Amino acid sequence: MNNFIYNIPTKVYFGENQLGNLGKEVSSFGKRVLLVYGGGSIKKSGLYKRVIQELMRVGEEIYELSGVDPNPRIESVRTGAKICQDRMIDVVLAVGGGSVIDCSKFIAAATFYDGDAWDLSSKDVEITKCLPIVTILTLSATGSEMDDCGVISNLKTHDKIGRHHKLMQPKVSFLDPTLTYTVNAYQTACGAADILSHIFEVYFNLNKDIEMLDGFMEAMMKTVIKFAPIAIAEPTNYEARANLMWASSWAINGFIVGGKKQAWSCHPMEHQLSAVYDITHGLGLAILTPRWMRYYLNNKTLDKFCQFAINVFDVNKDLPKMEIALKGIDRLEDFLFGSLNLTKRLSVLGIDDSHFKEMAKKAATPNAFQPMTAADVENIYRLCL
Ligand code: NZQ
Ligand code: ZN
Repeated sequence: MNNFIYNIPTKVYFGENQLGNLGKEVSSFGKRVLLVYGGGSIKKSGLYKRVIQELMRVGEEIYELSGVDPNPRIESVRTGAKICQDRMIDVVLAVGGGSVIDCSKFIAAATFYDGDAWDLSSKDVEITKCLPIVTILTLSATGSEMDDCGVISNLKTHDKIGRHHKLMQPKVSFLDPTLTYTVNAYQTACGAADILSHIFEVYFNLNKDIEMLDGFMEAMMKTVIKFAPIAIAEPTNYEARANLMWASSWAINGFIVGGKKQAWSCHPMEHQLSAVYDITHGLGLAILTPRWMRYYLNNKTLDKFCQFAINVFDVNKDLPKMEIALKGIDRLEDFLFGSLNLTKRLSVLGIDDSHFKEMAKKAATPNAFQPMTAADVENIYRLCL
């Protein structure tokens, strides 16, 4: 068991009708705010208007960066950082899903960096200062609202790179489940797959750690498996949206990690898929995960897969171990491709093996749950075709 530090410094306003606190929180950081949002969902839903009213109520000077793409691009970061520098912005307000929040994190850091913003992820240069970030979450998936990570794409170089830094952690996040009522079935499903994957990346670990955390993770997985189909069938079901939202934040805010030290497996493979083919992150994870599980089901990992099958999917514990493990993976597939109705194969998305070699080299991860060489990654990609 390793030692660890527990520190989650994001203040969360959870629930309906909390936006009345937005002005107070934003203005505590200063008078000039950069409002960052995506392709227009917040205008359609009426959220944009509410945010502007609240910011004007406290006399904020508002600047805007709109049009942040899913799989946010480095170009948006450069534009946003320039606005922050030119307008002497005090605080960045991200209103959207993970893409908008991630982009805002890099904008906040790039504002104080003299070189090209892409260095912040590609060269891991030091981040010494960051603007404070406030978020209003509109999609339950990435957990970016409560973690210190951001992921940025450079479509020109076929790269999508994540970076962690404590200074990029949002100071305040508004988590109102009603703001996710307008998320469509597909994005809800992709979000659920992403939340599950964040838990899997930590749960599938062979080193001994605090057992309590496994129990939390299993409960969180069951929460997603129970409520995602409800949210899809009844988009305005508050209980379902609320459970997904809080699960998304806690899946990746650091709590479940404890002292486990292990690199992630499916995320590096998926980030390469998004970098080259610009696919939805959660969909890529849904396609990859069961194949990754089958590929690494062996004598060493068998007990962990049995634990997963029995505790998450209630598979009969009296069956032979290998059967238990395989049934657990089957049940996960039923959930992802049946209940969530996600596409099962990369080929359906028009993806073939032409970039697999180059992608596999970038996604190889020796210190993952099971060491993943480039050859392994390429094999797993092929299983997904
Ligand atoms: O752009 P708008 O118009 O807002 O539409 C978005 C977008 O088209 C839409 N949407 C969001 N909220 C909505 C809504 N539509 C209707 N009603 C609402 N309330 O949904 C689409 C997808 O949004 P996006 O922000 O891209 O989705 P998500 O939250 O899944 O974020 C994905 C990005 O986060 C990264 C992913 O790689 C990907 O780039 N990740 C970030 C992580 C982190 N910061 O810790 C970890 C994750 O593993 C992940 O890598
Ligand atoms: Zn993810």
